[in-house]
Amino acid sequence: MSTRAARARAACDELLLDEEFLADPYPVYAAWREDGPLHWSEAFFGGAWVLTRHADVDAMLRDTTRFSARRTGGWVMQTADVRQEFQDFQQLFARAMLFLDAPDHGRIRGVLNAGFRADLLQRWIPTIERRVDAILDAVDAASGFDFVEVLARPLPAEVMALLMGIPAADSATFIGWSDELSAFIGSPSPSLAQARRARHSLLGMARYFEGLAAMPQRIDPEGLMGRLLQAEAEGGIHCGAELLSQCAMLLFAGHETTRNLLGNGLRALLAEPGAWQRLRREPALLPGAVREVLRFDSPVQYTGRRAAAEMVVHGQRIARGDLVIALIGSANRDPARYEQPDRLDIGRRGCGLLSFGAGPHVCIGAALSLMEAEIVFGRLLERFPRLAAAEGPARWNGNPVYRGLSTLLVKQGAQVAQRATESCM
Ligand code: HEM
Repeated sequence: MSTRAARARAACDELLLDEEFLADPYPVYAAWREDGPLHWSEAFFGGAWVLTRHADVDAMLRDTTRFSARRTGGWVMQTADVRQEFQDFQQLFARAMLFLDAPDHGRIRGVLNAGFRADLLQRWIPTIERRVDAILDAVDAASGFDFVEVLARPLPAEVMALLMGIPAADSATFIGWSDELSAFIGSPSPSLAQARRARHSLLGMARYFEGLAAMPQRIDPEGLMGRLLQAEAEGGIHCGAELLSQCAMLLFAGHETTRNLLGNGLRALLAEPGAWQRLRREPALLPGAVREVLRFDSPVQYTGRRAAAEMVVHGQRIARGDLVIALIGSANRDPARYEQPDRLDIGRRGCGLLSFGAGPHVCIGAALSLMEAEIVFGRLLERFPRLAAAEGPARWNGNPVYRGLSTLLVKQGAQVAQRATESCM
């Protein structure tokens, strides 16, 4: 093994939870990518293959013959010697469609797809705009505010409640549950304590949904939960764990990731000289800019699959059952796919980003989160044309998969106030 390869592999084993790596994983990804398209690393769940390049990550996520989405077993078994203790957790966790193959995956996805139709999503635009405005009305932008705390954290949870058709007032409760699940799923080697907290949260979510199901008057029949209940009554969704698992996974997947898109995205836009001002001048660039920040600093950095058969990839033998990691964060910065990949270019065309995955498991909520981000950044641009990052380091959430900020201090730059004063004189 070359020194460089040894260093890259050592880095892989040691750095995933290192503060410096979490603040900026991209130089390490670049070293892995240059070193080769496929590495073995002990860092992920006790040992996994890691694909680093765009073409391979894309192909792997589309290849349902050679790669299976069923991968939860090792997660729990590795973290808990006491398998018995986690049986109820595993029953729910493993049934989420994210972790299922055909035909079960297609059956459940078919039910949920109907709830993500463009016309249904669009009817939420005025409600989301009003909520964003209400939040921004309450901030003191000249003194500065924590964008993650006041907006990026609560808003996506409230929107998920709308979409699910459940009481919005409950969103604060499930943010806590969801944070614990995220810490567990995001950990490359979860501790028993983390697994126990995740179990507690997932069971809490399940009990919550069970309680709601018993009070149908509290559920919007057009929302995702109403659709799942209807499908259950018609036999399209198997009762009990299968239904509760989808509800819990949707809540979790829907707000954690969008929170990080908003936080990482705003940070990137404010850090790139001239980008905020250019978006002000050319608002038509906004949809492309949202996709570019997703590429540049993806809220989901990697996902995994299990090899469904023995195979040889890039000269290496992958055994049946081996875990293979699709390193999305690296694929999005692959110079073979993107010119100047480390540069945020809001005018970039043909993004082809992998942040939402690819193939049959491609994110079902992609359109919703793009819509939400366009509304939020659009309102910020209109109301705070001189928005800038405030003094102080950004604080990262410490999660190598669900990469995001726990704090992002911003404020309206002084220049506007100065100009306003000048024009009054
Ligand atoms: C910026 C925001 C988001 C990002 C970056 C993101 C990312 C992803 C990725 C990478 C996958 C594929 C994982 C894999 O193949 O293993 C995925 C799947 C999924 N996402 Fe998202 N997501 C986001 C927002 C949402 C929202 C808003 C929802 C729900 C409303 C959602 C629900 C799901 C679900 C249910 C799946 C599983 C789909 C399936 O297995 O067929 N996501 N997401």
